[in-house]
Amino acid sequence: MREFLARPGFLGTHGTVGADLSFILAILFTILFLIGWNAARKHRGNRHHVIILSAALIMLGYFSAYYLIRRLGVLAIEGREGFGGPDWFYTYVFSPVLTTHIVLVTIGLVMCVYMIILGFRASAKEGGKRILAGGELKVDKRKFYIALSAVLAVLGLFALIRCQTLRCAAVYGAGMMLVAAVFLVERAVERLLPKGRQRHMLLGRLTMIIFVVVLFTTTLIYVSLYVLYPPRLT
Ligand code: HEM
Repeated sequence: MREFLARPGFLGTHGTVGADLSFILAILFTILFLIGWNAARKHRGNRHHVIILSAALIMLGYFSAYYLIRRLGVLAIEGREGFGGPDWFYTYVFSPVLTTHIVLVTIGLVMCVYMIILGFRASAKEGGKRILAGGELKVDKRKFYIALSAVLAVLGLFALIRCQTLRCAAVYGAGMMLVAAVFLVERAVERLLPKGRQRHMLLGRLTMIIFVVVLFTTTLIYVSLYVLYPPRLT
């Protein structure tokens, strides 16, 4: 599989099959998310639900495959060696875009899972139509801490099984802190936006904006690496 993904790609650039596939999938699931958003704006809750869930499944499936096959943060680890362009471009353009990309992808993934859960919690079916309920939506304290501990325990277990380096443990540690931060932020957001409908719509729009910016940074990285300045790595 690794050898297949490392072959020359199909987009006519310097990209490998893996890079081209990643780029096409990123475009595909972002377009699906946008179609899902459009459905919600037209108050077609059922359509929104199905399209967003499909987009999320493709996206999460893709990131799981990426993680299993190519390992976490592969571009960041390759560093300067993985980039064939001039130093100024690497320092002032490529590196900041890559860092922004990694941060936004991480936030986007967490937000995606959070939004799906919020979508189910905040919505109800009325006459076969999925709508966002207008009332207050709060998690009780006990359930909140049980959910937080369960997610942290699963991540901790993954770290124990998979990590052999300090760097990998640090990535998982950062992931666990991010999850804890999201749970705490959710607590604060619950106070600021007590109504589920309001919360889903506001945070949903924010998530969609993150997805669009991620596609923009993905395109910049792809073009820099495989069109303008192909990597020096073989
Ligand atoms: C990544 C996940 C999701 C995102 C980013 C998202 C985003 C959004 C946004 C932005 C809106 C408001 C549209 C607007 O007026 O701008 C919305 C509405 C809505 N969402 Fe989601 N959503 C997600 C998942 C879900 C899920 C899983 C469900 C159901 C289980 C759901 C059910 C609804 C419903 C019923 C509405 C209201 C539609 C209407 O106005 O009639 N969402 N969502």
